[in-house]
Amino acid sequence: MRLLRGARRVLLENWTGTSTVPSRGLYPHQWSWDSAFIAIGLRHLSVRRAQRELETLLSAQWGDGRIPHIVFNPAVPLDAYFPSPDFWRSSSAGAAAGAPTAVESSGIVQPPVHALACRLVHLADPRASARRGFLDRLYPRLAAWHRYLAECRDLGGHGLVSVVHPWEPGMDNSPCWDAPLARVEPAPPGTFRRADLDHGAAADRPTDLDYGRYVRLAADYRDRGYHDDGPPPAFAVEDPGVNALLIASEHALADIAAAVGADPAPHLARARRLTAALVERLWDPAAGLFLCRDLRAGHMGGGALIPERSAAGLLPLIVPGLPDEIAAALIRTASGDHFGLGTSVRLVPSYDLLGAAFDASRYWRGPAWFNVNWLVERGLRLHGAVDRADALRSAALDTAVSSGFAEYVDPYTGEARGTRDFAWTAALALDLLVTSGGAGTELVTAEREMAAEPE
Ligand code: SER
Repeated sequence: MRLLRGARRVLLENWTGTSTVPSRGLYPHQWSWDSAFIAIGLRHLSVRRAQRELETLLSAQWGDGRIPHIVFNPAVPLDAYFPSPDFWRSSSAGAAAGAPTAVESSGIVQPPVHALACRLVHLADPRASARRGFLDRLYPRLAAWHRYLAECRDLGGHGLVSVVHPWEPGMDNSPCWDAPLARVEPAPPGTFRRADLDHGAAADRPTDLDYGRYVRLAADYRDRGYHDDGPPPAFAVEDPGVNALLIASEHALADIAAAVGADPAPHLARARRLTAALVERLWDPAAGLFLCRDLRAGHMGGGALIPERSAAGLLPLIVPGLPDEIAAALIRTASGDHFGLGTSVRLVPSYDLLGAAFDASRYWRGPAWFNVNWLVERGLRLHGAVDRADALRSAALDTAVSSGFAEYVDPYTGEARGTRDFAWTAALALDLLVTSGGAGTELVTAEREMAAEPE
């Protein structure tokens, strides 16, 4: 079967021995939410590797609980990726926040998909997981991670997590960030060299002006020791995707707590509080969608909703316990003119098809991503839209193969954009295939072969 063989090849080729690179050329280190999604697929080929993937990431966790968005591989030359470890300088600039000294990382974070991933990896082989004490080791780290987000990142003071850089919600170049970013003075172009353009077409990637602003925000955060207290940073946004993933992960963490003999109640209570705050702060009934809130806009310190429709606003579909009428409205919005699911597109776009900034090719400004579609598929299924979920799953499987496991695709045509042989595309397609029962006995063969390999 083409998908199974192809996905397996990508995951093998991108494996470094301790973790998986998102892409050999464009992203040659370990990325936080990539690793979580990769582990979800990798568990079908090798539970041991999937566990290792997450444990490698979590071994770079900071003392304050944050999981950095990149863990650098010291064997990769400094000029292979920018911003490189000598830019972030985590072990020195992040020392007061508890950055490890044995490994270099970035200092910002990415969406908390990790508890969700750990639970799914555990479920792939609960006996082997128990034998290795997988959940016992990871539970305190995951709990510290969620505590960091809930306590240190509630910059608005209303019970939601804020992001302080457009790379943190993972949707780096979303048009949602255009207004908040416009207030940021870009770093001068001559002061850094973009390595991403060595590997990706300029038309598929962010502009130089946006990069200048990303660099400025990251340098400012570094220069304040990666601290979250004190005056609010120039970019501070409550993002529905990040918060929805935290809620889904809190539910997973409650299950993990129960499995290791800890108390699940605090996790369920936090999930309930976050869900109420998410609806209160970010739900826009007129749009039928969750929007982002810019904490530096508006009056009286409450921030203002950003009037842009992003796929991040659909991600609360994965929240168990979302009020039924909101889930129903989200499903209508996904299938309406702005996102076109089941009508005009093959896969859910990252941004409003009718938005002024829509671009079917450019990074997070319109193309469809496989992690977003995996989450929407799961959310549709959770809320009973089984036919829509089945159709989306089958479109995602076809497109993953036909695009060469592209990083992202044109949502209308499914044509590949960005880089190819992208690890989470392979992993999540594999997960959709296996969980739908479509892998048959070939998987067993693949799994045995991989298990027999030296780690
Ligand atoms: N996604 C960013 C990049 O393009 C950083 O996480 O490098």
